[in-house]
Amino acid sequence: MSKKLYIKTYGCQMNAYDSTRMGDVLAPLGYAPVEGPLEADLVILNTCHIREKAEEKVYGELGRMRVEKERRAKLGQKMMIAVAGCVAQAEGEEIIKRAPFVDMVFGPQSYHKLPELLEKAAAREKPVELEFPQVQKFDFLPEETATPGSAAFLAVQEGCDKFCTFCVVPYTRGAEYSRAAADVLREARQLVDKGACEIMLLGQNVNAYHGAGADGESWSLAQLIRALAEIPGLKRIRYTTSHPRDMREDLMEAHAQVPQLMPYLHLPVQSGSDRVLKAMNRKHTAAEYIVIIESMRGSRADMAFSGDFIVGFPGETEADFEDTMALVRHVGYAGAYSFKYSPRPGTPAAEMEQVPEAVKDARLQRLQALLVSQAKAFNESWVGREMEVLLERDGKYEGQLVGRSPYMQAVHVRDSAQLRGQMVRVKITGASASSLTGELVIPGLSGDLERECA
Ligand code: 5AD
Ligand code: SF4
Repeated sequence: MSKKLYIKTYGCQMNAYDSTRMGDVLAPLGYAPVEGPLEADLVILNTCHIREKAEEKVYGELGRMRVEKERRAKLGQKMMIAVAGCVAQAEGEEIIKRAPFVDMVFGPQSYHKLPELLEKAAAREKPVELEFPQVQKFDFLPEETATPGSAAFLAVQEGCDKFCTFCVVPYTRGAEYSRAAADVLREARQLVDKGACEIMLLGQNVNAYHGAGADGESWSLAQLIRALAEIPGLKRIRYTTSHPRDMREDLMEAHAQVPQLMPYLHLPVQSGSDRVLKAMNRKHTAAEYIVIIESMRGSRADMAFSGDFIVGFPGETEADFEDTMALVRHVGYAGAYSFKYSPRPGTPAAEMEQVPEAVKDARLQRLQALLVSQAKAFNESWVGREMEVLLERDGKYEGQLVGRSPYMQAVHVRDSAQLRGQMVRVKITGASASSLTGELVIPGLSGDLERECA
């Protein structure tokens, strides 16, 4: 009989990828995914520790899971609860102490051991698995799965050695590691065979990729992308997240020369002030970042950019914040993520002199207003023009599907219900700060539904 698995995912795309892979590891044991915790035999909270209140959120959710577990116990049914991801890595044993009804805890590098952990949990051993193993989990994961006509994630690099002073990632995900190109290529082929037509290459420092290449040399991300572009049926390649220090010339060239590589780059800068960037240990200046943006626009004129920003980093003055606003005005982002600095236990910046909360709030509001106006302007610039959209999911309205543009915009397409999983040409008719609306260039086109991503 099949068992029910519910995974709740918090945080970044790497966590979303890990959740999918946990599902793949558990499928041979008879676990099938369900949409919610009710009736699930196993609930996994795949947690994120990057910003504030991460632990509280997890304990809050665990409180709700406990109620469900007790309800099920009264019916004589079993329900197992696991805490995974970066909060698990950071909190470890503490989770079992504070929430003794949790059955197991494991970090982001150990989920290939799930079958073993489940056995121990069934024997009431409450396993806590936090090692960074010498042998990578990737070597133990089963074949990739993909939904036809979908965009798939593929982890190529993990971990980080950069130690930005605000960030927990080097502690929760461990040292930087790049997967061998042959493994990545094999998995990409599996994904495409199963119907994926877009692949997002994932890594905390993806552009620092330096995996063993097919020729025995170490390959850069650009070399890997060129090899991936040879796979028939793979229409779109993306990568995230990149660090300005690792933005190499060959990657910029690849954007100009590889048509499958999308003209969009998520390149976090965090701050526009050199003083703050130094305190953050970013090891680049605002001017160096702008040179990269301009060179990329030189390689490909339609490149669009997004970024991450932190306001209220310890010691940030009004003048430092103005430098961030000036950088944003200079770059002109298609989209961006901005956050108030949140002290993370164990990181150097948590020990520095903090900026008052009210100041952070005011700065965040100002920055977000500017970023939203830029996103709106970028989206509006598309009204009346045509673009390729990969139709992925149902929209709010009858007959409408939602897909992604080359620039990661969500595009709501009228009268497209027959074309799920296909790449279509869309004329943009409307825009807001968060999405576009449009119509098929050839209305009524039914496509060859046997062939996805046409
Ligand atoms: N406080 C606020 N934002 C943070 N980020 C990472 N750590 C922190 C922190 N302590 C943001 C950065 C990073 C993104 C993933 O999360 O902008 O690029
Ligand atoms: Fe964190 Fe900096 Fe590494 Fe990015 S580069 S994961 S922000 S330490």
